[in-house]
Amino acid sequence: MTEKEFISNHSYAEKETGEVRAKCSSNIALIKYWGKYNPQLPANSSISYTLTDSFTETVLKFEKSEKLSVKVYLEDVFQEKFSHRIEEYFRSIKAYVPFIDQYSYIIHTRNTFPHSSGIASSASGFGAVAQCLMDMSGLLGEENTEEYKLTKASFLARLGSGSACRSLYKGLVVWGKHLEIPGSSDLYAIPFPFEVSPVFKKMQDTILLIHEGRKEMSSTVGHELMKNHPYAEARFAEAHKNLSDLSKILQNGDLESFGRIVEHEALTLHAMIMTSNPAFILMKPATLAVIDKLWKFRKETRTHLYFTLDAGANIHLLYPEEEKGLILNFIKNDLLKYTENGNSIQDKALF
Ligand code: DP6
Repeated sequence: MTEKEFISNHSYAEKETGEVRAKCSSNIALIKYWGKYNPQLPANSSISYTLTDSFTETVLKFEKSEKLSVKVYLEDVFQEKFSHRIEEYFRSIKAYVPFIDQYSYIIHTRNTFPHSSGIASSASGFGAVAQCLMDMSGLLGEENTEEYKLTKASFLARLGSGSACRSLYKGLVVWGKHLEIPGSSDLYAIPFPFEVSPVFKKMQDTILLIHEGRKEMSSTVGHELMKNHPYAEARFAEAHKNLSDLSKILQNGDLESFGRIVEHEALTLHAMIMTSNPAFILMKPATLAVIDKLWKFRKETRTHLYFTLDAGANIHLLYPEEEKGLILNFIKNDLLKYTENGNSIQDKALF
């Protein structure tokens, strides 16, 4: 679909007030989106797992108003910064949601994961808001197929936060045009379109909270730093190749090759961050200690335990459900001590 197909020419029903609600999960990228242009299009295609238990629930109340205004409450506490960000976002999507500036909004939102956990709430948060807007369009009389609604929600979520567009779908999700992935687009995400080997359908994710609290560098800054980055072109080309390879691996069930690419992607993301100007080091000594332990454990036990990283110090441990027993023991006995407060989050990606 093209951008034009998301521009709305409907005439909407008059409705004074109303309420919509949505739930949207967070996601963890296997091939990372890092670098964008114009202003919300990805420099390379990415693929992620949508998580199951880490999600945002949002209730959006709207009321006819002369002037657009947005008030966001997280766990019932007013959020001034988020309110401004969402208001600005709403203004920016008027071409696609023409009634947006005829209402004032009160948004109540809640995450199942702690705010300090480093799990990006912008992905699940914008995913949920975008779904709310599509439901609101429905209440105002816009009729669409379920497929169009989902695609447009993903399109709208992307304009809020890039990785959010992947959170609209379960399982493995691709965002960014890739010639070997039919239907893929820079404008919205799609479910990975090939049959996935059963080993990848119940992947476990234990998130070790190495560092709680705010990240030292926002992803917005990180994306910006890719613009003059000396290794940018090589990185984008490699991400493209990594997605080609991973696509085949996801179909043929080769867990070891999966782990090799996923870990390489995580380390490449941090290599880009460390070699940007200005430079950032987002890993902590404990992040490296965990990776070292994990590699030794994997060698000794021949289990399929792999890691990935976001743009932060926390570690996502990925492993198949069948190996859960041994691996959870290892996490409890040998890895939890590296977390800041003994905290971890247990999640999974289910299809
Ligand atoms: C490292 O989606 O948070 O998590 O589009 O500026 O909101 P914005 O960036 P964001 O970047 C995510 C970066 C990442 C990798 C990924 O999720 O693919």
